[in-house]
Amino acid sequence: MINIPHIVAHRGASIEAPENTIAAFRVAGARGAKWIECDVTLSSDDKCVLIHDDTLERTTNGTGPIHHSDLASLRALDAGGWFSDIYKGERIPTLSDTLETLFYMEMGANLEIKPSGCDPVRLCHEVIAELKRARDLPILISSFDDIAVAEMRKHAPELPCGWLLETLPKDWKTEYERLGASAIHIDHAALTPVSAAEIVDAGIPLVCYTINDVDRAKELFSWGVTSVITDDPAKLLAAIPRR
Ligand code: G3P
Ligand code: CA
Repeated sequence: MINIPHIVAHRGASIEAPENTIAAFRVAGARGAKWIECDVTLSSDDKCVLIHDDTLERTTNGTGPIHHSDLASLRALDAGGWFSDIYKGERIPTLSDTLETLFYMEMGANLEIKPSGCDPVRLCHEVIAELKRARDLPILISSFDDIAVAEMRKHAPELPCGWLLETLPKDWKTEYERLGASAIHIDHAALTPVSAAEIVDAGIPLVCYTINDVDRAKELFSWGVTSVITDDPAKLLAAIPRR
């Protein structure tokens, strides 16, 4: 199994820079993060782009669903001005540009497959193709979408793939095995010391999101959590050095 760092920068260092932009990934690296988490979806012409929402309004100066705009239209948008004037002109990154940046920064990524509004199977195949063209760097896929997890396991079994959850279902172990996932990624609020111990004792890497509080991160690590995903990698890395 891939070695997941104990702290992963959520959408980049998204407390300091506009989420899911190259700027946020660079800040994360500058603060000492080894990995970023980011959200991958498709433009209308089936290009892999990074954005969290299924519409453009919150994080760009565009409007409407992502999947109604082609790559050229998306790349023309400002994805930084909403956050701060100093980031005006920041663009929605392609997956390809992101992987290239991470390679030069010697960083890895948790790529969340986010098919809201597009075909999950098509998205998986485009991500696999991009990763085949990219240089080698540590990658952990994850998705809330069971179709996407199954598709990634089937067509790219060499890529570790986390099963993303908001809550832990009663039959989590059976479902985890059925999906053939490589890690459980869960909202930290849904985890208890008992459920964490069950997952850890089963030898399953356990990744929690989204934790910006140092004491809570320390508590989760004391439960055996492998990795926490945070908007504020600088703060967590300063308080909880590499274990
Ligand atoms: O991958 C963990 C976390 O990013 C999942 O939730 O909504 O921030 O993409 P969200
Ligand atoms: Ca995400």
